[in-house]
Amino acid sequence: MSPADPSRPARPDSLPGVDVLGHDVYERGVPHEAYDRFRTEAPVAWVNETPANGHDGSGFWSLTAHEHVVAVHKDWRTFSSEVGGTEIEELEHDPEALAARRTMLETDPPRHTKLRQLVNPTFSKLAVETYAAHADALVAEVIDDALAETRTAGVVDGVHAVARELPIRMITGLLGVPDDDAPQLFHWADQIVYNADPDYSPAVSDRTDTDPYRLLPFRSPVSAKVFEYVQRLATARRGVPSGDLLSVLSNALIDGEPLTEREQGTFFLLLLIAGNETTRHALAQGLLVLAEHPDALARLRAEPELLDTATEEVLRWTCPQLHFRRTATVHTELGGVPIAAGDKIVTWYLAANFDPAVFASPKVFDIARSPNRHVTFGGGGPHLCLGQWMARLEVRTFLAELAAKVERVELVGEPRRVRSNFINGLKSLPVALVPR
Ligand code: HEM
Repeated sequence: MSPADPSRPARPDSLPGVDVLGHDVYERGVPHEAYDRFRTEAPVAWVNETPANGHDGSGFWSLTAHEHVVAVHKDWRTFSSEVGGTEIEELEHDPEALAARRTMLETDPPRHTKLRQLVNPTFSKLAVETYAAHADALVAEVIDDALAETRTAGVVDGVHAVARELPIRMITGLLGVPDDDAPQLFHWADQIVYNADPDYSPAVSDRTDTDPYRLLPFRSPVSAKVFEYVQRLATARRGVPSGDLLSVLSNALIDGEPLTEREQGTFFLLLLIAGNETTRHALAQGLLVLAEHPDALARLRAEPELLDTATEEVLRWTCPQLHFRRTATVHTELGGVPIAAGDKIVTWYLAANFDPAVFASPKVFDIARSPNRHVTFGGGGPHLCLGQWMARLEVRTFLAELAAKVERVELVGEPRRVRSNFINGLKSLPVALVPR
């Protein structure tokens, strides 16, 4: 946690007592009521970081309206990712250490553009179309296994047995990670991302009784293990390109310079985490929303032409990434509220996805919804999700296979949610898949 900046004037909370920040809030459920209050009463709201909400930084502007999320993401000059992006807390104060661990998420153009160009070809819409047959085969296997488990045990865990498997198996080959190493690598990724949840991480981010690495995911002992692993594989690929992403990173030149070992490590970690931790929750919560709306799966079966709109509606509804951050570079304003240079801005994607100014009856799950301008992949601008086409392919294939093979999804126990204000995730989902 970063200490509050004493040079900043103290400001009161715009909505005292309404919490959209505490990790515990999200463990209980999506705080729709709190988001609605912020969006209607204070769409550009000041939120102090306090020990009560598990934070002790300088405070930030909290954005819950669709129009402001889009405006901030599109204007990277005014709202920089490089001056301070991604997480609410300042994870690193030493400028040299910060520069060394920066991922493309924490850079602005022109460096961002150069980094992104390295990996764009693997994730373009056209490239992703060529992965469709692989996705079909993987989804068929995962759903057949889940049907078999339901037959023998009466229940299957929709997170571990179903949703977790698909993104991992999709991304492993692209990264160039051997199948045998995948379980260990994804275990490390879970520990890094869910650093506010004691079920995953031995070092819990907002609890002071854990180890000193808790707030420095890229310097934690777990990240060090990932970096060592990347170096072993990257060294073998240096000078002998093999087409996978590890090979791209180990042979890349930016302005004539190779990426440093640390840059290769953090880039790899970004792809590993972004490619699997988010899509997992779109699929798991997709299963949950289908269990809660049995008519939706039946309708999709009857009207397969709704597959594309159903995919977008599942993405709008499940919105696995809860927020990212930017920092204002100049004095400016948003919705008539003055913002000072250096202020932190937090964009809440799920709140924007339920903004009635953009979505008619936003709390209705409507697989035919069109248009559907959700910001699940960001509000536009240079950082718009690199993996959006891959995530869409996975959700679409999953829905098509479920509609074909599963009569209905039944919830047979209480789902358990991840303790995190960053990822809208489930950690278990006891369901039965009833075959057709
Ligand atoms: C449902 C699944 C996914 C969701 C909800 C999601 C969400 C997001 C969001 C909100 C952003 C930031 C947008 C911004 O700040 O403007 C982002 C960026 C990113 N995503 Fe995804 N993502 C998903 C799947 C994937 C997949 C499959 C990959 C594959 C590797 C991926 C890789 C990335 C990367 C590398 C970035 C950083 C892009 C940049 O800085 O230019 N994501 N994603």
